[in-house]
Amino acid sequence: MLVVGVGTMGRGIAQACAAAGIRVRLCDVDRATAERGLQGVLETLDRLVARGKLDAAERAAIAARIELASDLESGAADADACIEAVPERIELKLETFARLDRVARPDALLATNTSSLSVTEIAAATSRPDRVVGTHFFNPVPVMELLEVVRGLRTDEATVERAVALGRRLGKTPIVVRDFPGFATSRLGVVLGAEAIRMLEQGVASAEDIDRAMELGYRHPMGPLRLTDLVGLDVRLAILEHLHRELGEAFRPPALLRQMVRAGKLGRKSGEGFYRY
Ligand code: CAA
Repeated sequence: MLVVGVGTMGRGIAQACAAAGIRVRLCDVDRATAERGLQGVLETLDRLVARGKLDAAERAAIAARIELASDLESGAADADACIEAVPERIELKLETFARLDRVARPDALLATNTSSLSVTEIAAATSRPDRVVGTHFFNPVPVMELLEVVRGLRTDEATVERAVALGRRLGKTPIVVRDFPGFATSRLGVVLGAEAIRMLEQGVASAEDIDRAMELGYRHPMGPLRLTDLVGLDVRLAILEHLHRELGEAFRPPALLRQMVRAGKLGRKSGEGFYRY
């Protein structure tokens, strides 16, 4: 398995696959970035060991299944599956799939971890759109139970079945959805986050209390602002911008979200978002 792009999601996907016994290779724009991704996975494993959630032998076995590919081309050459988790920008996804198409095995599963972009469009960057599918994972990947499998217009049934089987192997519950902007998850999820940000702009309540309201009043495991920090404000903004174009006004990104992204407040990964970390 090749994982292309080792930010938050790529790291989680790599960890979950390796924990399920799959050998994983990582690549990113350059070797230093890929190394940082691998380091991030190893640090997560160390935290789990320190907290008594993982024993040292299992940690070593998982770590031994993950290695760096020197680049996308060599990593894809003998992989039976390639999962792309590059940033949520269509031009990057199209370029990545055009490159994968040139080098991946003819029988390889080509999967995109997009949260909202068109799987059909991404697949069209290849000469084999029937073997391209969406595999939408959730953060933190090793913990979250859902895998949203997105069937592009030309994705064939065998490819959908392979993605579903991969999800089951990782211990996830897969659902298969039609390729429609925002699928069955992001379309609902980002509205809640965006409304929470607008409520903060309007001074309805503090960030803590808006979150507490949904945690205690609706039993959400974490409030919408804390969740936006976990997902990444830049990621949420990119999804909203795309859904605003595709589906209309309900998805207009809040001005505060844009400002915070411009200021580099991206949430947990940058050390500050609606909260400090
Ligand atoms: N790898 C492996 N295990 C991990 C982990 C990781 N990276 N991070 C946490 N865990 C484990 C912990 O060890 C812990 O295990 P136990 O239950 O065995 O003790 C468990 O996960 C829960 O972790 P914590 O105790 O640290 O924290 P918690 O109980 O507060 O739960 C949470 C944390 C799972 C994140 C929970 O708050 C939650 O479910 N939040 C909502 C997450 C969510 O909605 N994610 C979807 C975001 S949208 C998205 O990702 C898609 C998109 O398109 C942008």
